[in-house]
Amino acid sequence: MTDLNQETLDAWDTNAAFWNERMGEGNDFVNVLQWPAIERLLPIRSGERVLDIATGNGLMARRLGRLGAVVTAFDFAPQMIEQARQRTRAEDGEIAYFTLDATDEKALVALGEASFDAALSNMALFDMAEVDPLFRALYRLLKPGGHFVFTLMHPCFNNPFSSHIAEQEDRDGELVTTYSVKVWGYMTPAQRRGLALRGQPKAQIYFHRPLQAILGSGLIAGFVIDGLEERPFPPDHPQGKYPLSWGPNYSEIPPILVVRMRR
Ligand SMILES: C[S@@+](CC[C@H](N)C(=O)[O-])C[C@H]1O[C@@H](n2cnc3c(N)ncnc32)[C@H](O)[C@@H]1O
Repeated sequence: MTDLNQETLDAWDTNAAFWNERMGEGNDFVNVLQWPAIERLLPIRSGERVLDIATGNGLMARRLGRLGAVVTAFDFAPQMIEQARQRTRAEDGEIAYFTLDATDEKALVALGEASFDAALSNMALFDMAEVDPLFRALYRLLKPGGHFVFTLMHPCFNNPFSSHIAEQEDRDGELVTTYSVKVWGYMTPAQRRGLALRGQPKAQIYFHRPLQAILGSGLIAGFVIDGLEERPFPPDHPQGKYPLSWGPNYSEIPPILVVRMRR
């Protein structure tokens, strides 16, 4: 395992209990931005075999299970898998949890070639030290025509090389505040430590990749892109206590990108 992958694993393992406590049933990002797009792009038919990649505390696995999918869910952090197992109830349907590293192509393929109808990875590809092994493995794991849906921090607007700005002006006698995002890094894949949740015990590594890199990994593996949504908070969404945080003040700028690829 590379040093960066090991550091990533240690961070998520350390943060697992905190993450599970704060993200039990998701937050506004999950419930307003990610899940509605996932449901649109990945309609589940009862009995379909679905792979949930980097499942964390099993949030998506349980939602997929409740829709009738037969779910295989994995994460490389044993403490995350422990939290996922503890949270899962009979009504969450059929879910098998595994501890598995998404950068380990051979271990992934051992899940069963051409045995999955669909795959999902919610907010995790930018947490992975490498994504090429995963895309290559998925091409073998999915049945022909099978979909892989993934959500990302939008690499153009919500990347580790950006900041949020508020400017106030007197516009013909009216004080107007404009919220914007300043981006000073994009083209070069790069890593930076950061916090997925305020107050988490340990910073984790973000692996920033421009669109041509992250989408390119899937295209080179043989996938085509056949669905895409950019997800901002709607203007009528309640603003949280931090005006510079993602919310209605940024209703024209999407923090989340959702992509569907087809095998
Ligand atoms: C932001 S969390 C998202 C969890 C979950 N998908 C959700 O929607 O709540 C990112 C997850 O990616 C996992 N992860 C990062 N790199 C991984 C890898 N190489 N293999 C498997 N899991 C990985 C972390 O352990 C963490 O649980």
